Amino acid sequence: MSDGIHDSVKDYYGKVLQKSGDLKTTACTTSENESMSKSVKHALSLLSDEVHEKYYGCGIVLPPALENCTVLDLGCGAGRDCFCLSKLIGENGHVTGLDMTQEQLDVANRNISFHTEKFGYSKPNIDFKKGYIEKLTEAGIKASTFDVIVSNCVVNLSPDKEAVLSEAYKVLKEGGEFYFSDVYADRRLSEEILKNEVLWGECIAGALYWEDLINLAIKVGFTSPLLVSASYIDIKNKELKKILGCAQFISATYRLFKIPKGDFRNSIAVYKGGIEDFESNLKFDYNHSFQKGIPVPVTGELSGVLKGSRYSKFFTVEEQKHSSEIINPFHVAGKSSGGCCGKPKQEEKKTKSCCSGEKCN
Ligand SMILES: C[S@@+](CC[C@H](N)C(=O)[O-])C[C@H]1O[C@@H](n2cnc3c(N)ncnc32)[C@H](O)[C@@H]1O
Repeated sequence: MSDGIHDSVKDYYGKVLQKSGDLKTTACTTSENESMSKSVKHALSLLSDEVHEKYYGCGIVLPPALENCTVLDLGCGAGRDCFCLSKLIGENGHVTGLDMTQEQLDVANRNISFHTEKFGYSKPNIDFKKGYIEKLTEAGIKASTFDVIVSNCVVNLSPDKEAVLSEAYKVLKEGGEFYFSDVYADRRLSEEILKNEVLWGECIAGALYWEDLINLAIKVGFTSPLLVSASYIDIKNKELKKILGCAQFISATYRLFKIPKGDFRNSIAVYKGGIEDFESNLKFDYNHSFQKGIPVPVTGELSGVLKGSRYSKFFTVEEQKHSSEIINPFHVAGKSSGGCCGKPKQEEKKTKSCCSGEKCN
């Protein structure tokens, strides 16, 4: 592992950058049109100005159904996502933030009491540890202890991505999830780009070719990454753009699950409701939205995720009895099986009424 990269990244986040506005590219910024649930917006509105000012994330790493969970944030920085999670998991959950940069941890630690009081908790449900995301055990983190791991614009900064993924896999409980946003490239990057310290610090030079993430995740034992969202990063700085040539970059959010190995078959999943903010429609990833009560065909791997993770209590999942591809006659007839409501809208919050006034759900 290259200590040179760690030292230069520590210097960048500890000394060079003081606030989000000091960044030279938009890689470590979250695009405004990312959808946020009502609870997430509320939690963010409660956070201190200081943690907002020192936020350098590139996505929203706050998945649904977090109540009472134990959560680890890899490369937590000044703690914006950790404090938001502290509110979302409730007083009986626990969040640990890990970072290697002392200056970032100092900000996070001095904000604990403000947020504990703001959320009305009798004691903090949060702690921060100093350490490397490639060496979680060395930082005092035990195997199989977390329900959820999040990370926001950090994995790209690591010189050893395989170590990060395999350590994350190790410290997750069975059924646990690694939900993270990061920067990806459309190709493997040149030596010239890899050697540029500003491009490393700005979360560009260390970006994985996106297909390498898929292969690495599967290699260390995770399910195939489920894409949640992706958006282009526009690099305006002319000097940096010249070094980057034709390479294109995105920030993307993926969900990786650690589920017990099994012979999972294609299934039919039905969302029973019950998740705050997503009572009638749960967008699970880019490809799968579940409308309450409506059967959805899922692959064997996704059926394993729904049965083996914290989502199991919100779904019924039944194996398909047939092996050949069966056509849904409702699609042939030109209507979805969502009743008179038609196709469900993403992130729908309210129960819709049918054209006849009858409730759909
Ligand atoms: C782009 S900032 C993101 C911080 C935070 N997630 C946020 O959204 O504001 C990257 C952070 O990751 C930390 N970091 C980078 N590489 C790391 C490593 N190998 N081990 C631990 N922390 C690391 C840096 O110290 C920095 O605080």
